[in-house]
Amino acid sequence: MEFPINCICTSNLLLVITLVLLHFTSSLEFESFLQLPRSGFSVIRKPRKEVGIFLHVTAYGAVGDGIHDDTEAFRNAWKVACTFPQRATIIVPEGFTYLVQPIDFAACQTEVTLRILGAIIAPKDPKVWLGLNPRKWLYFHGVEQLTLEGGGTINGMGKDWWALSCKTNATLPCHHAPTAITFHRCKNLKVRDISIIDSQQTHITFTNCRSIVVSNVTLTAPVESPNTDGIHISASSDVQVSDTSIKTGDDCVSIVSNSSRIVITGLACGPGHGISIGSLGRWSEWSEVRDVMVDGAYLSNTQNGVRIKTWQGGAGYVRRVTFKNVWMENVTNPIIVDQYYCDAPEPCINQTSAVHVDKISFVGIKGTSGSDEAIRFACSDSSPCQGLYLEDIQLITYTGVATSFCWKAQGSSSGVVYPSPCFPTNESVI
Ligand SMILES: *[C@@H]1O[C@H](CO)[C@@H](O)[C@H](O)[C@H]1NC(C)=O
Ligand SMILES: *[C@@H]1O[C@H](CO)[C@@H](O)[C@H](O)[C@H]1NC(C)=O
Ligand SMILES: *[C@@H]1O[C@H](CO)[C@@H](O)[C@H](O)[C@H]1NC(C)=O
Ligand SMILES: *[C@@H]1O[C@H](CO)[C@@H](O)[C@H](O)[C@H]1NC(C)=O
Ligand SMILES: *[C@@H]1O[C@H](CO)[C@@H](O)[C@H](O)[C@H]1NC(C)=O
Ligand SMILES: *[C@@H]1O[C@H](CO)[C@@H](O)[C@H](O)[C@H]1NC(C)=O
Repeated sequence: MEFPINCICTSNLLLVITLVLLHFTSSLEFESFLQLPRSGFSVIRKPRKEVGIFLHVTAYGAVGDGIHDDTEAFRNAWKVACTFPQRATIIVPEGFTYLVQPIDFAACQTEVTLRILGAIIAPKDPKVWLGLNPRKWLYFHGVEQLTLEGGGTINGMGKDWWALSCKTNATLPCHHAPTAITFHRCKNLKVRDISIIDSQQTHITFTNCRSIVVSNVTLTAPVESPNTDGIHISASSDVQVSDTSIKTGDDCVSIVSNSSRIVITGLACGPGHGISIGSLGRWSEWSEVRDVMVDGAYLSNTQNGVRIKTWQGGAGYVRRVTFKNVWMENVTNPIIVDQYYCDAPEPCINQTSAVHVDKISFVGIKGTSGSDEAIRFACSDSSPCQGLYLEDIQLITYTGVATSFCWKAQGSSSGVVYPSPCFPTNESVI
């Protein structure tokens, strides 16, 4: 069989060029702001005609030499910003490096913009976390109307941190690795134009949040770094993620427990573990994930492409998910639905309850599979997958013949689908 591979490559190239342009367009838009004396705060008119309260962390004692502990300055700037009735912008100046320990940015009703122009770095010694929240570094909770932006960098110092952990040296103590940025019980968030490098754990986590827009964000961690999900969405709804580049050692995007209305566009992922819904239903939990749309992604050298994974014994459902316009390059498991997911030391026993999987569409998924099995639908005996839909699929392997695997998978297809679908019958699409 022959496929218009050139056409795939050209589109690939265009997508890559677009993404590269997105990431490297110069920062001309960032105008210099007036650096004011250490007066606490000031009302200034910026060249861009931006009016409001501006708080420079330097005015609250931040040194920015990468050695001095600037946590208190950030904490105070945040506290002051949150006293304003309307809007406040906290500025983290360019050209400086601010060492910040685990910090709570708590309950704030003010519309705050945290404009990170310089760099924020984590302490590299795990001991610093003792007595503090061991799982969170920059922790925003109970926050409404927050914008994180500015073109700066957030550095988790993951390499140094892991070097001091039992994971790399058995004689050293074990620690929980903290997530770089955690948002909990938040709404109306915007995260844009920033990069997070070398996170110790997950780069960005949203839990119990709604109305989130993430755009033009770059997340980079070494491929061998454990548990470093790019964006982790949990119990959240109305989330848009666009124009994002993620290179990491775990899932680029993972969507779990009780999340809905998630739209992902313009994602470049790899290396990493791909885009994942789940795992869901561990410890017999009820979990639902619905209305997810991934439209426009480029995955390269990832372990998985687009994946749904559920544990046996769970309850709830994954419903109305569409993966569309995804280009894959050397992806080991390009399309995978696994209702037998088991990431435990002991093999998991078969159970009769399951997180139900239905109305899942795969449309326009093309490129190369790193293994022969390009499509895998391993569905539950007691709760078979329903409403799987394949359209315009062209996945080839480097050497062998691409295959698809179905177990208890009910679905339909239309257009070119290669490898050919393995549904027992062509179920009518609902
Ligand atoms: C492991 O840590 C111990 C104690 O800090 C140190 O003496 C030893 O050199 C380390 N080993 C390696 C392989 O880094
Ligand atoms: C994306 O963010 C970078 C900084 O990380 C910035 O220079 C660039 O202008 C942004 N691109 C767009 C399209 O906003
Ligand atoms: C999902 O929501 C249901 C009902 O609101 C709750 O019982 C369940 O614990 C939640 N599941 C998870 C994994 O958070
Ligand atoms: C595909 O990825 C694997 C690792 O997942 C790597 O070992 C292999 O060299 C890659 N192949 C190509 C053709 O890039
Ligand atoms: C569990 O069920 C699957 C699918 O029916 C089957 O392939 C597998 O052998 C079963 N495992 C055990 C431990 O019974
Ligand atoms: C499967 O069914 C759908 C709609 O019910 C139809 O459009 C499609 O052509 C059918 N595919 C095959 C391979 O019969």
